[in-house]
Amino acid sequence: MAQDQTAADPDVVKMKAWISQDRVTDSVAKFAPGNGIEKLTLRFDIDELRAALDQVLGLTDYQGDMQDLGFAAIPLTRRPGEEKSSANDLSGRYWLRANDRYVEEPREDFVDEAAFSEFVPIFKDTYFEHVHKELARRFPIGRMRILSKDSYNCNSWHRDPEPRLHIPVVTNPGALFIVNHHVTHLPADGSVYFTDTRGYHSALNGGEHRRVHIVAALPYPEL
Ligand SMILES: [Fe+2]
Repeated sequence: MAQDQTAADPDVVKMKAWISQDRVTDSVAKFAPGNGIEKLTLRFDIDELRAALDQVLGLTDYQGDMQDLGFAAIPLTRRPGEEKSSANDLSGRYWLRANDRYVEEPREDFVDEAAFSEFVPIFKDTYFEHVHKELARRFPIGRMRILSKDSYNCNSWHRDPEPRLHIPVVTNPGALFIVNHHVTHLPADGSVYFTDTRGYHSALNGGEHRRVHIVAALPYPEL
């Protein structure tokens, strides 16, 4: 087909408009709120958060049976007096559409988030205890975990029973969070982010360095 015959083709017209648009390269390294991802007014000290992470890593190692795949966790809250976390406690119930059947299926077992009311004693007097107190003063807080994600790693595309708060401690511009149709980077500057993980979501680390977030479940009783 000669080019003059295709000039009115709707895709040719749209393609010209798309090509003439500015490329977006700066804002993707920043936070953009959207449906299901918001930033709180509450803010913590990023230097204190990083110092607390170093303290915790001096006291214990990352846990979890998916560390070879780039997922690692350290629980910061526990059921009162309970010394060991089960594999299910490190993950918990979620749903996903696993394959080309597009049918939603449950994975793992429900965790009673409200039972995780005790801050893990060996981490008392770290800044993370202050963070837990400040969060628990405002919101129902269940499991609070340090979640590490290696370079070139992503979560399944799934939904959880409850929303989560994220506090990035170590990140890079290639670390992104996606809820439904919205994707954004979450800068590690002391900010606290609400992520409505009752919607389909994933997190990915497309950068060259490990990403570490504090993640706290928000088990509102009406959920
Ligand atoms: Fe999740």
